[in-house]
Amino acid sequence: MRKPIVVVGSINLDLVVGAERLPLSGETITGNSFATFHGGKGANQAVAAAKLGYPVAMVGNVGNDAFGAELRRGLESAGVDTENVRAVENSSGVALITTGRQGENNIVVVPGANGRLTPELLEKSAGTMERAGILLAQLEVPLETIEYLAEFAERHNIPLMLDPAPARDLPATLLRRLSWITPNETEAKALLPADIEDQGAGPGRAAERFVALGVENVILKLGARGCLIAQRDMPELRVPAFSVAAIDTTAAGDAFNAGFAVALMRGVEIERCAVFASAVAAISVTRPGAQPSMPTAAEVDTFLKSHSAHFSN
Ligand code: ATP
Ligand code: RIB
Repeated sequence: MRKPIVVVGSINLDLVVGAERLPLSGETITGNSFATFHGGKGANQAVAAAKLGYPVAMVGNVGNDAFGAELRRGLESAGVDTENVRAVENSSGVALITTGRQGENNIVVVPGANGRLTPELLEKSAGTMERAGILLAQLEVPLETIEYLAEFAERHNIPLMLDPAPARDLPATLLRRLSWITPNETEAKALLPADIEDQGAGPGRAAERFVALGVENVILKLGARGCLIAQRDMPELRVPAFSVAAIDTTAAGDAFNAGFAVALMRGVEIERCAVFASAVAAISVTRPGAQPSMPTAAEVDTFLKSHSAHFSN
């Protein structure tokens, strides 16, 4: 029996405006499209892993509004176990997203119900979390909940992969309990400001610093430049991104994390996990929206076959 991936995190409705470019501070521009998509970093990772054919359970909150019921149905139709998704007295989480023509974006998240995912609620999901092969988390729910989760993961000897997004200061005790941390460059800068500024160092130095702080494995996500992996007592690995025409990079990081976790659970060696994750993310950036952009296992398989000749890893 495969141990499920258990995702503890946010569930949002994304309100997405498309424009030629992102507006500057104080500027008004005219957009050219508007759409809503199911999103939230937690739910995106859960849906992505489920679409890749792996058993996934989600622990999170929706609001007691119409969005909440719709967001739950979205998770269910992707095959995610929603037994631990609770409707709480609040509005559902929403994200206001603007995307530019090159696929770039900026996002404002209003947590709503996600902000009510307390350690006490997590305790009610202990039975599900104990059975996890790996726990995935992000920072769109209260930090005390993530700290509780990290302590739980350590106590039960379950690996925890934290995507530190949106970035915020993290206590040293939390970092030491992580098996994996997966910041992008902006998040790494926010988490390690002094180190990055100190020596104008590249991403390798930032990843090393996380290892020195006690995180076992670090994946630094570098957008279209791929990713860098640093592990305790292991040589650094770099895996380039696939070359694709990006139209919307929203949730590329979520696609990557889910792909990496699924490959890891299937016993794939680390560098190949990163190649698989990069393929999942590359497909996602060629499609609009967060959850609808996540590929199936068959789509990733086809993609990898057709791109292997162009991939010099
Ligand atoms: P997001 O916050 O948008 O979900 P992120 O900032 O956490 O994403 P990124 O570094 O932007 O993460 O992207 C994660 C991975 O997705 C990259 O390591 C890369 O493999 C892939 N990726 C991102 N952008 C592109 C792109 N334009 N073309 C191909 N692959 C991409
Ligand atoms: O990582 C992308 C996600 O960030 C979006 O789906 C949005 O909901 C925000 O949480």
